[in-house]
Amino acid sequence: MKLLVIGGGGREHALAWRLAQSQRVNTVFVAPGNGGTATSPRLKNIALTDVNALVDFARSEKIAFAVVGPEAPLAAGVVDAFRAAGLRIFGATQAAAQLESSKDYAKAFMVRNHIPTAHYATFTDPELARQYIHEQGAPIVIKADGLAAGKGVIVAMHEQEALDAVNDMLGDGRFGEAGARVVIEEFLTGEEASFIVMCDGQHVLPLATSQDHKRLKDGDEGPNTGGMGAYSPAPIVSPTLHNRIMREVILPTTQGMAKEGIPFSGFLYAGLMIGDGPDNTRSLKLLEYNCRLGDPEAQPIMMRIKNDLTEVFELAIAGKLNEAHIDWDRRTALGVVMAAANYPENPRSGDAIQQLPADSENCMVFHAGTTLKDGQLQTSGGRVLCVTALGESIRRAQDKAYAAASQIQFEGKQFRTDIGWRAIPGSDAS
Ligand code: AMP
Ligand code: GLY
Repeated sequence: MKLLVIGGGGREHALAWRLAQSQRVNTVFVAPGNGGTATSPRLKNIALTDVNALVDFARSEKIAFAVVGPEAPLAAGVVDAFRAAGLRIFGATQAAAQLESSKDYAKAFMVRNHIPTAHYATFTDPELARQYIHEQGAPIVIKADGLAAGKGVIVAMHEQEALDAVNDMLGDGRFGEAGARVVIEEFLTGEEASFIVMCDGQHVLPLATSQDHKRLKDGDEGPNTGGMGAYSPAPIVSPTLHNRIMREVILPTTQGMAKEGIPFSGFLYAGLMIGDGPDNTRSLKLLEYNCRLGDPEAQPIMMRIKNDLTEVFELAIAGKLNEAHIDWDRRTALGVVMAAANYPENPRSGDAIQQLPADSENCMVFHAGTTLKDGQLQTSGGRVLCVTALGESIRRAQDKAYAAASQIQFEGKQFRTDIGWRAIPGSDAS
């Protein structure tokens, strides 16, 4: 069969690579793909991003099914367009993708459905927003309502920072439409975890747990990024917490969406803050929804899938996720993101990438911001590569990923040296 993966980041490389392991698959087309998907066995790039062009391509190539990686095509309605054309696709509809594409929609949905989250208020008027900040004081969190590629959230430790963020978004229009409305919310403390499930409108299949590292620098310092590395499983999500997340967050979400007439299909990602509650309990709050797999969480998650992923997607698209199962490698997978010079502010493109280690079953270099130009691999985006390894322990996975990452050369490369630290016994946080 021929498949189509929509997107061009590390997550899509990992998805396409895993799908291509199936004996049933001849070719996985990746639209638009990157330098890694251009050169991986059985993957093929197609330079398409327009929704109608993707529909035409899927029809003429007789694609068995498509899987959507990033949020932008979901928010643009690619799933609705494929379904209207009678084509099979896994992802959230445009209406359901509002859980990610509008923070205000998501927060109001959480409150309506009694899903635990930080207190908040929404503003379009900068003066009212400033007043609210004065009343609440810092630390406080300012979020652009719309999609801002992970850059629309300002965690303001001081009131002035919060006021500046409001001026940027509501006054100067720095985020355009996306920032014409802001959500201002209570600052929460604790440890973050990602919880990702597959949904078919009715049933839910949880994926293995994972955790990413959002800050640029070691020790969780520096600016927020799209994610500098991730590992799976995430030991913070104990079996008890797993049950609570399903009961308090995931099921109320899918049931609430179905009840409101917008059944949720696709990947649903809950970004959680796990803090200390009363009497030695854990407090659990939902920070955000994404309607997609996380990037880089997808890379370690895909490394751990042992069975045929095409069958899981087929059942999901048929509304039979209750019949699907995923066979997880019991080992830990850990991915280290290598980013370009000046990431995240203003990443530089065009640096030659050299000395990539050979891929193996236990260590893969997934590409994101890379392109192949005249046979030479170059950087072409903020996050360039995600070097992902499997190991018997998180320490082993970390050693293996860093051994591979340290060989890779490009000008200005940046990567954290401590991915996984919270999960390593003996580190400060364990
Ligand atoms: P979001 O896109 O809403 O997940 O926000 C991006 C990042 O900002 C999160 O991963 C957190 O690190 C941080 N963040 C978001 N909301 C809060 C909050 N209410 N309190 C503390 N940190 C937050
Ligand atoms: N790694 C976080 C995200 O994909 O949103």
